[in-house]
Amino acid sequence: MENSDLLITADGQCEVCTVSQDLASTARPYRLYRFLTDMEDILETVTDDRQRLERIRPLVRRLLTSSYWLQGEYREPNPDTGWSVLTLYEEPDFPLTIQTTSWLPGRGSPIHNHATWGVVALLSGQEKNTFWRRTNQQEFPDRIEQVGEQVVAAGDIISFLPEAIHQVEIVGDEPSITFNIYGETDYSQRFEFDAVNHTAQKF
Ligand SMILES: [Fe+2]
Repeated sequence: MENSDLLITADGQCEVCTVSQDLASTARPYRLYRFLTDMEDILETVTDDRQRLERIRPLVRRLLTSSYWLQGEYREPNPDTGWSVLTLYEEPDFPLTIQTTSWLPGRGSPIHNHATWGVVALLSGQEKNTFWRRTNQQEFPDRIEQVGEQVVAAGDIISFLPEAIHQVEIVGDEPSITFNIYGETDYSQRFEFDAVNHTAQKF
């Protein structure tokens, strides 16, 4: 099956993007530190989040293909919580979160936004994403409705604009493992949503 590159917009639309893999210099490995350098350059020179994601998605593909060891860098899911996270790189005042997460089948996240751009590459397993939007941002910012859903599988990349609202459920019968990269979170705008009671909580 063909791999997909997807972009989720602020109003929950799922746009199919061109899958491109930047293999410009295949002569030597594209190592994590070069990826981080490229990320820093992109964040300094490109201010529009959609354009940033256009630049970042191919680099994530290139990194995961060329630095294949990253595909084995994850923690087994915690049987109590259903998930685990492994931070791959962290530095004070470097506004990036780079991690792998694993989830057990049947588990899933609350409905949430990230309040920053994000790129999630599926390394194995399948995740059903449901997408939501605020129905009346001005008067009732906590009121949301579901607008779509999409199953992503190993080899797919799903990317998010900062206002995108989604929920993840692990489908199929194997754990999902993902490589995630996020920008600098605006915690004043990061919420978990309750779609039944129309409430939202910061987290
Ligand atoms: Fe998320």
